[in-house]
Amino acid sequence: MCGIIGIVTGKSVAAGLISSLKLLEYRGYDSAGIATLQNGNIWRERAAGKLENLEQKIKEVGVVDGGIGIGHTRWATHGAPTEVNAHPHIVDNVVLVHNGIIENYQELREELLASNAKIMSDTDTEIIGHLISRQLKINDDIEIAIKTVVAKLRGAFALAIMIKGQEDLLIGARQGCPLAVGIGDVEGHYIGSDALALSPFSRQIIYLEEGDLVFASTNSYKIFDKSHNEVTRQVNHIEVQNAAMDKGNHKHFMAKEFFEQPDVINHTLAHYIDLESNKITIDAKLDITKFDRIIIVSCGTAYYAAMVGKYWLENSTNMAVEVDVASEFRYRNPPLNDKCLFIVVSQSGETADSLAALRLAKQKGCTTAAVVNVATSTMAREADIILPTFAGTEICVASTKGFICQISVLATLSIGLGLQTGQLNQDDAIKMTQELAQLPRLINQCFEVESDVIELANDIAKVEHVLFLGRHTSYPIAMEGALKLKEITYIHAEGYAAGELKHGPIALIDEKMPLIIIAPDNAVYEKTRSNIEEIAARGGDITVFTSESRAKEIQKLGLKAIALPDCSEFVSAFVYTIPVQLLAYHTAVHMGTDVDQPRNLAKSVTVE
Ligand code: AGP
Repeated sequence: MCGIIGIVTGKSVAAGLISSLKLLEYRGYDSAGIATLQNGNIWRERAAGKLENLEQKIKEVGVVDGGIGIGHTRWATHGAPTEVNAHPHIVDNVVLVHNGIIENYQELREELLASNAKIMSDTDTEIIGHLISRQLKINDDIEIAIKTVVAKLRGAFALAIMIKGQEDLLIGARQGCPLAVGIGDVEGHYIGSDALALSPFSRQIIYLEEGDLVFASTNSYKIFDKSHNEVTRQVNHIEVQNAAMDKGNHKHFMAKEFFEQPDVINHTLAHYIDLESNKITIDAKLDITKFDRIIIVSCGTAYYAAMVGKYWLENSTNMAVEVDVASEFRYRNPPLNDKCLFIVVSQSGETADSLAALRLAKQKGCTTAAVVNVATSTMAREADIILPTFAGTEICVASTKGFICQISVLATLSIGLGLQTGQLNQDDAIKMTQELAQLPRLINQCFEVESDVIELANDIAKVEHVLFLGRHTSYPIAMEGALKLKEITYIHAEGYAAGELKHGPIALIDEKMPLIIIAPDNAVYEKTRSNIEEIAARGGDITVFTSESRAKEIQKLGLKAIALPDCSEFVSAFVYTIPVQLLAYHTAVHMGTDVDQPRNLAKSVTVE
């Protein structure tokens, strides 16, 4: 969370800082700010709220440009999202921006207060500024001061720092949060949270490693590792597409990304399946005979993708598949060994909890694989095996195409590993790959339910609570539908296993409780239908997403049904994702919420 950028070119940097912050806003949008150094002075402007507020303010007050500057877009951790808490923070000669959380911040703050430090904000960031400033008063060697202070900080952070009077020195520190260095295409050096932030200036990117410090000037840079030895890090050539930043003809990125789903499924499947020969190619290191269990760990939407994967993988491999949310997995001391295949699923490849889980699994000897969308991300670099998704850049905070690509990879993996275990034979595998090949067409057909879903969304926009129900793979889709609705409409929604309702939640049912029931025509359809009748008997306001062939019988019960194209049980998770995404989107549009940047959220969650 939080995006940081630093530029040292010796020429005007303010416009570059703003253009980079635009690319970083997906990491947080509680406040934004930039600062420059020039002629021994510091200039800084900050504004609460989105970047556009900062731009407006700068338009009104004017820029004092310089040859070095830093910028920040914030997702608040310590302190409310006010201007006072916005970055950059200035303490005496020190100007800094920060991403992450300093865990021993209270203790450091008390120490500073005891020595009469004047602390202006509620942030942990300002504390770092005080520590550096205090250190520089003891010894004015900047490198020593930075190394000394960073060694005192506990937690996960990335920092970009400038020192007043040092107009050719940009400092960066990475510990737990991603930070990259860009070597300017034309001139200068850059520090940023990710390659996207650096894309307007640089194609030569260095990903700092844990504990690294960088000291960059216009013409040179040096990197120190966690033991303070000067090191050389690999320079990567990166092409980042800025086209993804354009909404095209759509009103929101969510709509654009939603309608890209048939294409991105195609791209992702094409990486793993030769659709001419139906041959599946998976990494040679994924030899299932070496493992006795599969563990999939992730967060949020990626967790629901993992849950869908569990149904498929267990069925196709007959192996135990465990799924857990990363924030729980990492602290429950799970028994792990070299017989475990550990799979992390992450769109960004930077989610702090998922990354920590991946590292834990590696450390305990598991073979690790990352289903990841950002090929340059930390998870992609650290996992033993990369299982890429090809969603392209996903801008909207609510994931749509990212999710569909994650389940595309897990579906192909279940076929590939199923063949290895002998649980699937060639005929089964061909049938399944052919079903996957139909997906782009099927998903396009699903878009035809949009007008029915808009009608439903107009009703849902008036309620306070919604229940989503499903069985089998429709259960995680129900949870994903509830998450999507919560995220962008702020309506309280929950996803339940349809068979679980009678164990408690059925008490919630009355005529004011809307229920969205996901009921594809599959092996558990009859069971779900019984659950539908139980709810109907108690007066619940039911809408059923079901197949064309079943919609009529639901309507005969006097219930609302929205008909999706008939499909196989295997691909139903893809098909039924579309109406739940559409429902969240159109409810949000009807309510006028901020679809692409919902309150309190950020796209990349790099704090615990
Ligand atoms: C999705 O709509 C959410 N914004 C969120 O749950 C997200 O899926 C989660 O934070 C995990 O992110 P990742 O896939 O980048 O690891």
